[in-house]
Amino acid sequence: MSKVDNKNTQKMIGFYHQLNNKRQDTWVKLKKYTFHLSNIDVKSEGVRRLKKAVELSLISLETIEDYTAFPSKENFRYLKERFEQEDYIALSHGVSQIHYFLENGTYRRKDVDLSLSNHSIENEENTHENISGAKTSRAKPYFEVLIVDNLIVDAENQLLNSVRSMRHPDDQFNYTPIVVPSFEDAIIAILINANIQACILRPGFPMKSERNSGLVSHIVAEIDDKLRKYIYNSKNQGNELGRLIKYLRPELDLYLISDMATESGNQDDGYFNRVFYSEKSSLDMHHSLLGGVAARFDTPFFSALKKYSRRPTGTFHALPISRAKSIEMSNWIGDMLDFYGTNIFLAETSTTSGGLDSLLQPTGPLKKAQEYAARAYGSRSSYFVTNGTSTANKIVVQALVQPGDIILVDRDCHKSHHYGMVLAGAHVKYLDSYPLNDLSIYGGVPLKEIKRTLLNYQALGQLDRVKMLLLTNCTFDGVVYNVRQVMEECLAIKPDLVFLWDEAWFAFASFNPIYRTRTAMSSAASLNRRYQRTRYHQKYQVYKNKLAKIDDNNKTAWMLENKLLPDPEQVRIRTYTTQSTHKTLTALRQGSMIHIFDQDFRQKVENTFNEAYMTHTSTSPNYQILASLDIGRRQVELEGYKMVNKQLELAMTLRQTAYQSERLKKYFDVLVNKDLVPKEFRQSGVDSFFNVKTGFSQMEKAWADDEFVVDPTRITVHIGKTGIDGNTFKDKYLMDKHGIQINKTSRNTILFIVNIGTSRSSIIYLLNCLHKIVTELEVRELEMSPAERALHKKRVISLTKELPPLPDFSCFHHAFCPGKDLGSTEGDIRKAYFLSYDDDNYEYANLDNGELEKQMKKGREFVSTTFIIPYPPGFPILVPGQVISQEILEYMKALDVKEIHGYNPELGLSVFTEKVLAKLEKKNKMRRKYDKLSAKEVTKIVK
Ligand SMILES: Cc1ncc(COP(=O)(O)O)c(C=O)c1O
Repeated sequence: MSKVDNKNTQKMIGFYHQLNNKRQDTWVKLKKYTFHLSNIDVKSEGVRRLKKAVELSLISLETIEDYTAFPSKENFRYLKERFEQEDYIALSHGVSQIHYFLENGTYRRKDVDLSLSNHSIENEENTHENISGAKTSRAKPYFEVLIVDNLIVDAENQLLNSVRSMRHPDDQFNYTPIVVPSFEDAIIAILINANIQACILRPGFPMKSERNSGLVSHIVAEIDDKLRKYIYNSKNQGNELGRLIKYLRPELDLYLISDMATESGNQDDGYFNRVFYSEKSSLDMHHSLLGGVAARFDTPFFSALKKYSRRPTGTFHALPISRAKSIEMSNWIGDMLDFYGTNIFLAETSTTSGGLDSLLQPTGPLKKAQEYAARAYGSRSSYFVTNGTSTANKIVVQALVQPGDIILVDRDCHKSHHYGMVLAGAHVKYLDSYPLNDLSIYGGVPLKEIKRTLLNYQALGQLDRVKMLLLTNCTFDGVVYNVRQVMEECLAIKPDLVFLWDEAWFAFASFNPIYRTRTAMSSAASLNRRYQRTRYHQKYQVYKNKLAKIDDNNKTAWMLENKLLPDPEQVRIRTYTTQSTHKTLTALRQGSMIHIFDQDFRQKVENTFNEAYMTHTSTSPNYQILASLDIGRRQVELEGYKMVNKQLELAMTLRQTAYQSERLKKYFDVLVNKDLVPKEFRQSGVDSFFNVKTGFSQMEKAWADDEFVVDPTRITVHIGKTGIDGNTFKDKYLMDKHGIQINKTSRNTILFIVNIGTSRSSIIYLLNCLHKIVTELEVRELEMSPAERALHKKRVISLTKELPPLPDFSCFHHAFCPGKDLGSTEGDIRKAYFLSYDDDNYEYANLDNGELEKQMKKGREFVSTTFIIPYPPGFPILVPGQVISQEILEYMKALDVKEIHGYNPELGLSVFTEKVLAKLEKKNKMRRKYDKLSAKEVTKIVK
């Protein structure tokens, strides 16, 4: 076989890759080719072509299989030898076996030797007892251990055999070692092979990969120079590789084998679970490997709940459904048990004893489960929430904000924040996200806007009242902030600003290196490290001197245009994130988490946080939800990397097919980065992550620096050319005709979310359905009557050209604007909200008869008493206390959605009476007057 030139056959591997599908497809192809080759007449014409195809497939696969335990290098060598010796029957047999074992995961249960022709495919299964005592057969969990050691073939085989010999049938897990010889190979392996759960590094390895150098040079580049310097210094070499592995896959267990006695030197920078002195301690190593994985596998609360449900308990608790008793005794609802099975009822409890724990004051398995969640998501502490992120948001706001504190918030945030701010009595300063009028959706709030607002409060002497910045990351439509930069620059203006990042849609992001950098927890940790470095302190001094030289008149303009740095002596990292774990990872509905990285938590927040948690948490929390959060955490710590990579891979497949299919493009435009992120926010200049020549190679570049980027797994499709609006398309075409469920539309777009539960077949199914819809639309167009055609044209124009511009936030009425005299515009939303509880304070203004506009022209200010939330887009276009602008009226009239919360078309808009507004104004004037008087003067007036 010819020497492999990988540079021609492989593209660089990024933080995400499409190798899984490629691997699967290439084995299928190889199976087909080798089967033909084994059956064809060797003298026939097609042989040469087939041989070439087999050779290329083997070359292509070898690059991947070098880094996987199965097929092993021995297996691959066996195939290559069969090919070289033209023993095509054995080759075909070997390939089919590998393909079969890969597909059904046999290699996870036993070592496979291809040279044995009749492999029995028996399952070496680990039997578990289920709750009812029945045996269930679930294979023993399997993982792979990466050993980085530069060995000759014989030594490598010896090492593999010695590791294999450590394994024991009673072990909790089954594992197989793989050896790679160099630094680069190690990086390729952990990116490609998601089965790897632990790495053993034995410094003394070379930097470059002999066969695949270049595949990851862009990842290694940053530390390449440094490494070259230290290449023979085993201490630095191990640490550098450990650091990079932890950056790419922080969940992995790392072990260092050192030739130097650890007591004598600082060998370990904290990346390693354990440092072994020489490799003699194999049994220790074996137990460490199993123990490391067992620590992630452990599910304290799920296990406690399972155990509890097996106990024969008598229930005199207020829970008749527990242990299915109320159902078993019923003559009418037995089908409930048939449908759900018994376990769900056996585990139905809210008891805090019997090995279980209290959510309101956890001290046992729930506490531990939450600590594990903190480890998985990189927070300082994490809390489980059983009523979704809607509740999590209210908890965080209440915990941190007192009545009268100012919160800066993106106006199109989820409604739970608006309600949370009503409850907390926050004074709300809405920030406008950039609008995408042609799509009827919003992006994010530009950093410049945030800085301008903070600097304005500073100029007014009100900055100390600004408590929190609250933003949505990522947005429903997948717009992702540069979280780290936003926090850094805001902290430069207000060093103790609290951040609440609503990551309802971003729980999965922690499990891929490229996504992780844009999560709140990772950004908080990264800033925390940065501000402790001497290098940063020096950098800050240079910045401070530069800033001091800028003329006061120009300072604000300079600060808006330049990157700001916080004072490391003053800065406090105070970051909170709420996530709907149930939206993007394995968790039962309503399973959410709050993650916290707040340096002042213990000192300033813990008590109020506990109170807020008590306020919003049921005293009968659903334990099934809590247990699902615990076991879902196990999943992400053991296979989050794999699942998120698959999610990306599938999204990319869907996107690529849609970008390149002329037929689909006739009606559907799959939007790319530039469609959702305007040019001024794309510093990288990347329009689309996809390029016909290089594939999906642009994502890292955009995600590294751009102010906003799009999450490619959220696929917005513009359907304006169909002449069908988003809602109708969702209900009539996708759901009714094809059973496809989506949950977000705008007037002219639909959103497909690819998640960890999406399979390759569901992508194929979706593409098939879209093709079928195209056929249907083509037939419809062909058969239209002239009148229908004219109507269709009108609809297309309406959906592609006549989009009502999204209205900006107008303003709060003076009556609800306590800072008005000082020049600030935040609103007391709570005051307006509760004022409408009194019938005398409001009336209805009809939208349709023109009366409202007539009066507006005459100068009356109409002020909303309620939240008005159209679905879509799903955010309030009016909030209590907000002045109704002409722009908002026009938007409302142009809306063709049926569901508008807070609005009854028969009654009209609920607005405050002029009388109540005038009364409030008078009161406010008095208050302002008194505010300016001294206490003595006030007492005099009152007397
Ligand atoms: C940005 C955002 N935050 C919070 C929520 C509420 O989350 P949950 O459904 O978990 O209550 C949603 C729901 O869609 C959301 O989109």
